[in-house]
Amino acid sequence: MPSPHPRPRKMSRGYLIIFLLIAAFVGGFLYAAGMFGSTTTSAQQFIDLQEPDPPHLGFRRAHAKGICIQGELISTGLLAPFTDAEFFQADVTQPFIGRFSIAGANPLAPDLDAPVRSMALSFSSSSGQRWRTAMNTPTVMPVATPEDLYQQFKVLAPNPDTGKPDPDKIRAFFDAHPETAAFNDWKQSYRPTNSFATEQYNSINAFYLIDSQGQRRAVRWTMVPQAKTSSMPSSIGDAPDALQLELAQRLQQAPVQFDLMFAFATDQDDETNPTIPWPSTRHTINAATLIIHKVSAQEDGACNGINFNPLVLPQGLAPTADRILNARGAAYAESYRRRAQETFFGSSIIGVKE
Ligand code: HEM
Repeated sequence: MPSPHPRPRKMSRGYLIIFLLIAAFVGGFLYAAGMFGSTTTSAQQFIDLQEPDPPHLGFRRAHAKGICIQGELISTGLLAPFTDAEFFQADVTQPFIGRFSIAGANPLAPDLDAPVRSMALSFSSSSGQRWRTAMNTPTVMPVATPEDLYQQFKVLAPNPDTGKPDPDKIRAFFDAHPETAAFNDWKQSYRPTNSFATEQYNSINAFYLIDSQGQRRAVRWTMVPQAKTSSMPSSIGDAPDALQLELAQRLQQAPVQFDLMFAFATDQDDETNPTIPWPSTRHTINAATLIIHKVSAQEDGACNGINFNPLVLPQGLAPTADRILNARGAAYAESYRRRAQETFFGSSIIGVKE
């Protein structure tokens, strides 16, 4: 009687060679993607570390609390000799959708306690050019590689037993990373203002401008507020949503404006290292005026469905080899993938899980 479990047939020599070739290819791919056998940090590991357990469903895994903004960017034309980016040619006015946010994974965090504030912008021209930028209040990064940043996040995470990070581990990390000095100097000197409209937001990472001859120049950019610092209206005080309320109130009086300043690197600057500040004497150009007209809650605002991936660049702008910059694309995509999956095409299951 034939066995009910036929013996597996031996793989022929030809199949064996094909199998080994495929295994080598897949193995090589996984190795390059940092999934085993290497010290690379993956986007999934970053997001696992950044998101709370349980996560706030439907929200960004970083900068979860924010507010949508809309307006336009009016080019001065002064940057046009250095880039053929459409957005910076003379007489170009480009609408944008953007977002002010505070750093952190908690969409209910009190605005005024956040250590970092942010501005993100998305531009889409009628000819198909796209530009997305996400900027923060610090001028530099604490560390220069995704691996070191991952270790820093780990050290700053609360110990499950005490609910607080371990100060000895934090001290040991910073002692072992002298490149954190400029970031710590910034932290010491930074005085948060009472408004999203009076902060300065920095690209931190450097990019290349590319002109019509193909020549490239390394730059960093900063959004410099036109409004002066002011006191918080007493009707708002230290409300949890103070920065959002202040912005809405301010916009009822007048639009909010920023100057978009580009600083050019010299031979002394390393454009791949985001931990080193560039001297304020570097040549700068006022490329455009950003005018914000409108604000709306992120839950129903146009910014919610946008992934502000800083590697989405128009012709005339290109990424440098800065490893932090290049890691951001995958991390933002992973955060976006998770929150998009949870929002069920934007319907009502968006909510804060507490
Ligand atoms: C490897 C380093 C970094 C990682 C892993 C990281 C991670 C993330 C993630 C996961 C998000 C949420 C994305 C989404 O769901 O749409 C995010 C948002 C953001 N990041 Fe980063 N980030 C990094 C570096 C930076 C730097 C250097 C800056 C500033 C120059 C920055 C500025 C922002 C801003 C402004 C947002 C909010 C964008 C929005 O409003 O949607 N990030 N980041």
